[in-house]
Amino acid sequence: MIPHDTISNILSTAKIEEVVGDFVSLKRRGVNYIGLCPFHNEKTPSFTVSPSKGIYKCFGCGKAGNAVNFLMEHEHFTYPEALRELAKRYNIEIEEEKQTPEKIQEQNEKESLFLLNQYAQKYFEQVLHETEEGKAVGLSYFRERLFNDNTIRKFQLGYSPENWDSFTENATANGYKPEYLVKTGLSLQKETRLMDRFHGRVIFPIHSASGRIIGFGGRVLKSDKHLAKYINSPESEIYNKSKSLYGLFFAKNALIAKDTCLLVEGYTDVISLHQAGIENVVASSGTSLTQEQIKLIQRYTANITILYDGDPAGIKASMRGIDMILEHGMNVRIVLFPEGEDPDSFVRKNRVAEVETFIAKNAVNFILFKTRLLLEETAGDPIKKAALIKEIVNTISLIPDGISRSLYIKECAGVLGVQEQTLLNEINKIFRKKFTKKDPESLETEGAGVDFSEPPAPSQMELEVDSSEAQERAIIRLLLLYANEILIFKEEDENKEMKEIPVKVGDFIIHDIQSDELSFDDPVCQQIFNEMAASLEQEKIADKDHFFHHTDINISTLAIDLCVPSYELSTNWKKNRIYVDLEHQSSVDSINSAVLTFKVRKIDRMILDISNKLKEAGSDEEAMQLLDDWHKKKEISSKIHSQLGGGRIVIK
Ligand code: CTP
Ligand code: MN
Repeated sequence: MIPHDTISNILSTAKIEEVVGDFVSLKRRGVNYIGLCPFHNEKTPSFTVSPSKGIYKCFGCGKAGNAVNFLMEHEHFTYPEALRELAKRYNIEIEEEKQTPEKIQEQNEKESLFLLNQYAQKYFEQVLHETEEGKAVGLSYFRERLFNDNTIRKFQLGYSPENWDSFTENATANGYKPEYLVKTGLSLQKETRLMDRFHGRVIFPIHSASGRIIGFGGRVLKSDKHLAKYINSPESEIYNKSKSLYGLFFAKNALIAKDTCLLVEGYTDVISLHQAGIENVVASSGTSLTQEQIKLIQRYTANITILYDGDPAGIKASMRGIDMILEHGMNVRIVLFPEGEDPDSFVRKNRVAEVETFIAKNAVNFILFKTRLLLEETAGDPIKKAALIKEIVNTISLIPDGISRSLYIKECAGVLGVQEQTLLNEINKIFRKKFTKKDPESLETEGAGVDFSEPPAPSQMELEVDSSEAQERAIIRLLLLYANEILIFKEEDENKEMKEIPVKVGDFIIHDIQSDELSFDDPVCQQIFNEMAASLEQEKIADKDHFFHHTDINISTLAIDLCVPSYELSTNWKKNRIYVDLEHQSSVDSINSAVLTFKVRKIDRMILDISNKLKEAGSDEEAMQLLDDWHKKKEISSKIHSQLGGGRIVIK
């Protein structure tokens, strides 16, 4: 754990232009620096670095953040890794906070497992390259598979001797504890003795995303039917199969550069494609993709192309898994390899350019692929076809983005030979079901605003009905940007003379919200609000200058996100009737309308709560009280609604 004070120190010492400057060539432009964005391809620079604000922002792709965000985004560091990197660069000593004995024990144990795996990898690699058996058996096997020396070194391949305990002997002699040998799975307990799990196999080390060795795969060399072709390390404190992808460490940069992830089945597929220069590839190692693995890929790209060995049965089995990928908002394409070929064998038989063209030419959008595959089976049977339509529509309904959904509906209607409207009707049924299940009341109160001919994604609908995210963010944004600006209120005093009362924006908003005892749903917004409220008495209210460098990464990230305009946010805000443009004129109107919009959203939610309670009211008395409350809130709500609708808001 890095102590809080040290984090603050790191954040205030780090110079954004220097940190970014290590990776991007920057030119001075006025008070800022400008360069080519490292996060997307561009020819004219739109990546801006502001030394005074301590942040970067790309006006092309919208990426923004402080020095820590930059290292996390660009170098794929975790938060603590990024902090440590900065500390190193600026010679800041990190004095680790005292940890509990259990924590230390756990850390030490993990570290021991990592160290042992690292030792084992070196051992296997050395055996492969430097022993007679290694060279004669292991190395010649890899050569036979046409892996060249660079490839063998890059993937740190190795060989474990045939003898049943060579490694275990060697490791124990070098002080590695039997306990850890068993926990990493490198050794197996056989009665009172330990033996090598991987003996007589070639070794494929499995790396974490940051390159540490978390496990191994071992392949037999003989075609002995009694032996499993591959065996793998068991799960351990450092190896979680469902959270790792083979090859990810080597693929990271290519995933970003190519903006696509090729997904294959096995170790050798990854390695052969790499050797051919196709580096944006990872393997799920024979199992179907998990949620965690999808999220891992999503850190680098939203496009997945699955390369399948041509076996329709296997493909159908994995379709459920693919639906899951769609749900994550990713684009999935499928490439089917010719019968009997896997990517590895295909690469060996063809030239690289041919492989690339093959993938490009044969990549079919998953939904169309599924539609065609299933359509073949229906063979004109109308009942089967109806079931197929339901199935396809179900899959389409999972796609979060409305525009993609309607494109798919169009295409699938064509392939299936049905009217687009038929599919639309089906999809609306699904949405209506999801919607009513969630919140029947909201259909009545807000139903008018929901147009089922353009079904919104489930997540968007939730936002429409019961999230005040946009409103909360608008308030926090105003506070961050303008908390210390002065508003002038005009008021008549007892002598009917106009008096000017200066009030800080922060004071005005915070007191207003506090006096209504309103809170924020989003904990990060609430935290920012609380910290600002606590600073009201100080000369300067905590604002963006403070929060951009906040030690809590969630807070600094949100603050930066809110303050540097992004297209997505601004359209969202427009939809929610929040127009804020205070950059050049500080406007009571827009602040007031943001606060009102925030309030009315909260009140509308209370109204919804009350009507729900009404349904379950135990006594008449209780019901009357609720009804009373309902009317009062409804009145306030419609008042605010009409004010908001009426354009100018007059401050009393
Ligand atoms: N696999 C496994 N255990 C097995 C078989 C397969 O863990 N008994 C995993 C391995 O990660 C393997 C992947 O599933 O790489 C794909 O299996 P397969 O297609 O049989 O192997 P290939 O990768 O084609 O291996 P090779 O070319 O060496 O036969
Ligand atoms: Mn193979």
